[in-house]
Amino acid sequence: MTDPIPLLDLSSQHRELEGELRGAFDRVLAHGGFILGKEVAAFEEAVAAYLGVPHAIGVSSGTDALLVALMGLDVGPGDEVITTPFTFFATAGVVSRLGATPVFADIDPETFNLRPDAVAAALTEKTKAVIGVDLFGQPCDIDGLREAAGPATLIEDAAQSIGASYRGERIGGHAPAVCFSFFPAKNLGGLGDGGMVTTTDDELATKMRRLRVHGSHPKYFHAMVGGNFRLDALQAAFLNVKLPHLEGWIAARRQNAEYYDARFAEAGLAPERLRTPVRREAGHSYNQYVIRTDRRDALRDALTEAGVATAIYYPRPLHLQECFADLGYSEGDLPEAELACHEVLAIPTGPNLTESNRARVVSAVLSALG
Ligand SMILES: Cc1ncc(COP(=O)(O)O)c(C=O)c1O
Repeated sequence: MTDPIPLLDLSSQHRELEGELRGAFDRVLAHGGFILGKEVAAFEEAVAAYLGVPHAIGVSSGTDALLVALMGLDVGPGDEVITTPFTFFATAGVVSRLGATPVFADIDPETFNLRPDAVAAALTEKTKAVIGVDLFGQPCDIDGLREAAGPATLIEDAAQSIGASYRGERIGGHAPAVCFSFFPAKNLGGLGDGGMVTTTDDELATKMRRLRVHGSHPKYFHAMVGGNFRLDALQAAFLNVKLPHLEGWIAARRQNAEYYDARFAEAGLAPERLRTPVRREAGHSYNQYVIRTDRRDALRDALTEAGVATAIYYPRPLHLQECFADLGYSEGDLPEAELACHEVLAIPTGPNLTESNRARVVSAVLSALG
């Protein structure tokens, strides 16, 4: 039996960085500044410089980055927020948590991202914000969404796409608030939870920094209600060790994606049998390489049998989740998102995927679908 191929091999990445990560841990243990402080400030500065944005605010998770952004825009009861139903739950969960109403618009079946024309059709006078998601590492149609959003504010959920570029420029400053996640499986992953929100708006930045610490300014004085959304100093120290490697890791992911694209194209299968992800943005960072097939579940079983780990992002669209039943959606309302849920399969594409393993992934896929 050959070795199993994980979806993402984080243990080799951590073995390579073990000395530096332990050094970061020892430093934080020695100085004892566990909450915010210089570790978080140093990481925020490094990310702001990397992304070319004036403000980067470290928060406790990608979910909290979205929450802080919406709170910063005063989203609340009576407001509607339009977003995609084909995303991780957090994108819409934060809207409901603030008492606002998520409104779902359908996706482009090629990129899996929110369609501007669908957003325009869903717009009402109650629409306060639109959340575009850069799914799987591919930036959404930011210009199209901004135009479709009209007077509503565009927020970018870039949880899966740090290091990706939109029209040649790294994402982070294209929308009034851009939200990142450092969940371990992201391209820049912590050793626990973490997130960041970036903005080019000075006033919004100040407000979000206050919201991160219960809305206090100065300490123990609260003109607004926030929460504990602080990024942990230890995570910031670990992430600062990893940040200089991010570009190399993304380059390796792109190489894997290009290899898959070429091998699968050579195989010449019918499009319903196998479709590779469409790279509309050259700056796609391939947090996931997601194929489509009309026999997804059989393919997944065959790959499991062959020792190749896969994942289904996502098995059920958000408009059909039980917790959103009150919103009144039913099956057939957003057909592209629904179909994607039946057809998608993520295959291994991490930076530590070896050449022999990616060749094994290709043969396993082709022999299952051939
Ligand atoms: C698209 C998207 N939005 C939001 C999140 C939430 O990020 P976190 O897990 O860091 O809270 C994730 C991460 O899983 C995500 O993929």
